[in-house]
Amino acid sequence: MIPWSALLPVRLLKEALLRPASIQDGHRVLDLGCGTGTLAVLAKCAHRGAEVFGLDADAEALNRARTKLEAAGIEVQLDQGLASAMPYAGDSFDWALSSLFFHHLPYESELEAMREVLRVLRPGGEFHIADWGKATSPAMRLAFVGSNFSMASPQQPIT
Ligand SMILES: C[S@@+](CC[C@H](N)C(=O)[O-])C[C@H]1O[C@@H](n2cnc3c(N)ncnc32)[C@H](O)[C@@H]1O
Repeated sequence: MIPWSALLPVRLLKEALLRPASIQDGHRVLDLGCGTGTLAVLAKCAHRGAEVFGLDADAEALNRARTKLEAAGIEVQLDQGLASAMPYAGDSFDWALSSLFFHHLPYESELEAMREVLRVLRPGGEFHIADWGKATSPAMRLAFVGSNFSMASPQQPIT
């Protein structure tokens, strides 16, 4: 049986998340809650001169991410850890990206994770997030059975 989540345009979502990020050579990019690393792989393949990191709590997901990295022949630093206590120095990233992660967290943990994002981002750094959001029209509610994806960035804040 095909899981319902397989029907979602998840890769398109990740590409759309990445597109507005003007990542440059030498930039440090964090994929928060990277899971099996799809977004981190896309980011590194699109920006070979950037240093890409993936953080996730789940060792098994990170193992699967390592397999993807090897297959793609690219280097991404994968770290096991919690979003609420990231193993990174302050002001150490130019970009933080996150897809389909925040809806996993209870509200307090969301706040802790956001505080950590603000801590690790350099001044002027940006956090781009794509996750479930409130459906904005009956069509979207129908299409996604009550939910839809929201994209947020400085150009398109969550409303
Ligand atoms: C639905 S997956 C999304 C993975 C990936 N971002 C993607 O879009 O495919 C959510 C991930 O969040 C991770 N996760 C959940 N709570 C976490 C936390 N507090 N800190 C770090 N990772 C967490 C899980 O281990 C899981 O890999």
